Amino acid sequence: MPWPRRAASITVLLVAAASAAPLPWLPLDRDGVHDPKAPGLALLQQPAEALAPLPRDTAGNGVRWVQALETGAIAPRSTLLGNTPVRVLDQDLIISKFGSMPAVKFPHRAHTLWLDCSNCHPVPFKDKAGANRFSMTAILNGEQCGLCHGAVSFPLTECNRCHSVPNASLRRGTAP
Ligand code: HEC
Ligand code: HEC
Ligand code: HEC
Repeated sequence: MPWPRRAASITVLLVAAASAAPLPWLPLDRDGVHDPKAPGLALLQQPAEALAPLPRDTAGNGVRWVQALETGAIAPRSTLLGNTPVRVLDQDLIISKFGSMPAVKFPHRAHTLWLDCSNCHPVPFKDKAGANRFSMTAILNGEQCGLCHGAVSFPLTECNRCHSVPNASLRRGTAP
């Protein structure tokens, strides 16, 4: 049971998750990313204008990106070069040690709509169910799922979006 020492950080995250509110879309000259004095800034569309029509989220940057893509609200170009194959894998995997949390459902489809297989296989994940040793500590430290979640995809405060499958609905000891 490697959890007790890390319990504090999980508790902090839970509190943060409970109080999560939609983040305001700051104007570009106040977002702490762009140089407010850059003359080109005026040419860029403001996030509030660009993002407001998209499906709203209560966390992260305020947009449900998978929903935006699935509903056609956005239609990004899928490749830079015309002859690159697009590979979408419609397969969910259950990651479950039967711990204190509901089991994790990893949806390949939602990921391969955005990413190529090579973003995840063979590094950071072996492409064999059960072959990877996941740990919430590693994830909170920015490894494994945490390479992207909390960085470019929805934040780790959204526990239930990963831990979405009640353990009672799974049979212990059988492959998913
Ligand atoms: C991006 C996905 C993701 C998010 C978000 C996430 N986790 Fe996890 N978590 C995982 C994965 C994957 C594992 C490994 C599961 C396993 O092997 O059973 C895990 C394991 C755990 C474990 C240890 C195993 C268990 O089930 O007891 C705990 C405790 C845990 N997470 C708590 C949390 C809490 C609390 C939050 C929210 C503050 C959270 N997690 C958010 C992906 C996530
Ligand atoms: C965002 C990361 C990510 C992307 C992108 C991704 N995968 Fe995976 N894949 C995973 C994870 C996580 C697992 C689960 C490994 C485990 O259970 O230990 C997995 C498991 C697999 C497995 C094993 C399934 C089984 O039943 O044993 C195969 C095969 C696989 N992936 C193929 C692909 C292919 C093909 C693509 C591209 C179309 C792809 N993956 C894209 C993360 C990804
Ligand atoms: C290489 C980057 C990357 C890694 C690694 C990664 N994800 Fe994601 N994930 C994404 C992106 C991008 C999205 C879509 C944007 C979003 O929902 O924030 C996403 C979306 C999701 C969704 C939401 C699907 C939906 O329908 O809304 C779940 C659940 C999820 N990831 C779980 C996981 C778990 C569990 C792991 C680790 C086993 C993981 N992800 C690893 C990039 C990644």
